[in-house]
Amino acid sequence: AITRQYTFNITYKNFTRLCHTRSLVTVNGKFPGPRLVAREGDQVLVKVVNHVAENITIHWHGVRQLTSGWADGPAYITQCPIQTGQAYTYNFTITGQRGTLLWHAHISWLRSSLYGPIIILPKLNESYPFKKPYKEIPILFGEWFNVDPEAVIAQALQTGAGPNVSDAYTINGLPGPLYNCSAKDTYKLKVKPGKTYLLRLINAALNDELFFSIANHTLTVVEADAVYVKPFEADTLLITPGQTTNVLLKTKPHLPNATFYMFAGPYFSGMGSFDNSTTAGFLVYKHPSGNNHLKKLPSLKPTLPPTNATGFVANFTKKFRSLANAKFPANVPQTVDRKFFFTVGLGTHPCPKNTTCQGPNNNTKFAASINNVSFVLPSVALLQSYFFGQSNGVFTSDFPQNPTIPFNYTGTPPNNTMVSNGTKTVVLAFNTSVELVMQGTSILGAESHPLHLHGYNFFVVGQGFGNYDPNKDPSNFNLVDPVERNTAGVPAGGWVAIRFLADNPGLWFMHCHLDVHTSWGLRMAWIVLDGPQPNQKIPPPPSDLPKC
Ligand code: C2O
Ligand code: CU
Repeated sequence: AITRQYTFNITYKNFTRLCHTRSLVTVNGKFPGPRLVAREGDQVLVKVVNHVAENITIHWHGVRQLTSGWADGPAYITQCPIQTGQAYTYNFTITGQRGTLLWHAHISWLRSSLYGPIIILPKLNESYPFKKPYKEIPILFGEWFNVDPEAVIAQALQTGAGPNVSDAYTINGLPGPLYNCSAKDTYKLKVKPGKTYLLRLINAALNDELFFSIANHTLTVVEADAVYVKPFEADTLLITPGQTTNVLLKTKPHLPNATFYMFAGPYFSGMGSFDNSTTAGFLVYKHPSGNNHLKKLPSLKPTLPPTNATGFVANFTKKFRSLANAKFPANVPQTVDRKFFFTVGLGTHPCPKNTTCQGPNNNTKFAASINNVSFVLPSVALLQSYFFGQSNGVFTSDFPQNPTIPFNYTGTPPNNTMVSNGTKTVVLAFNTSVELVMQGTSILGAESHPLHLHGYNFFVVGQGFGNYDPNKDPSNFNLVDPVERNTAGVPAGGWVAIRFLADNPGLWFMHCHLDVHTSWGLRMAWIVLDGPQPNQKIPPPPSDLPKC
């Protein structure tokens, strides 16, 4: 293992898409941002230097951060933001993971332009559990806004309304030919015939779960969230924000000059508005002579499911299984020490006195909550408060283990949609085996929520529609080869059950990875206490940790 050093200079740079030029906050002037490449076992040092007016933090999404929570990155959770003119070096080691993850800004909506791939190669002398691909290509999905997304969310939080939606989806930063004024900004994946390519698919979009498909080509899924899975074939994938999926693309043997469309478009089950557009790229077979005569558009288009295809999504999600072999075992907790039942969903806040609000149900503000608690970010970093024993007045440890307002999640919504505010955490003893069932509420309509847990992978042991039944559903849990991920969807109008072993001491954020839901409060934090061994304790913070 070696140490890899990166410098991320946060700078402004103008980019033009859809004939709109905007000054984007970038890493090293790149959009999307640069690749971070490491081998399993390597230490990574990333010096982030802030040259812009905005406060910045970067999160290494899905990196386990074993006892290195100071490098995790969510603003006001594990660190204060890096202010203008300041620098902070993230220091972490990649342990027991290989595949694709992503890094992204973790403050406000700055992820819209600050994101990039994390590529974790197997250790030297170790191979993939599938045929070595001819080439490996990261494909990042994102969103383009013609206006500043920071202004979009600021305005939405002020008025209480749903935010304006993006103007385009992008593939590697490019909207593609289906949008006005965008044909020249099309991603082209150039391939040779008869080869196997590894596509590292990453959804970095702010607010949209996306379907992805390439015309006339079947993809073989081999890895999700930097964990190998049992390979399976799919014509269309679903990737939620925060999820990564590695797929093999086998190119056809003889197709000189052929081109095919690839599409990514939204899955959306909830209320309100969303960007119902499609981003397209080209799969281009290179001519053996090296001359490409690509002038006309591809003729074949893939067919994406309808935007509200919840049944498709449930079936697709169930196909993921851990490899669970001798080399890559699935260490699924077989027994449970603590069971949690969280309701996740949208609700409302009352409109402040003497103002008018544009949220749902007449003069309210949109809110979102877990167990009816809409999480309020503190103005200092929780991990620091916790580490130095200064939680007083910053956070409490009484996050409810079960819903405080029980109701039938599939039945008639309650009259009262109001949620309460709080900065509440759950405290877990080291090595607690946790089962968490997350039940989507339908208070403001059924909506799917990609829930992300920091500092951990978890096993998705069950999922279903309707109300979770604690007497019946656990008998169908998969405790043998469930998929291991860091982000999993709570199905629209249903539930998901996960298990994890709390073996990583620290303070770990959990939230919906649709940024608008996070901004509305669909977030909370777990505290995992130190273990007995020296390497099971949170070390003191690095000296350059930013101050609030
Ligand atoms: Cu990718 Cu807390 O996020
Ligand atoms: Cu959500």
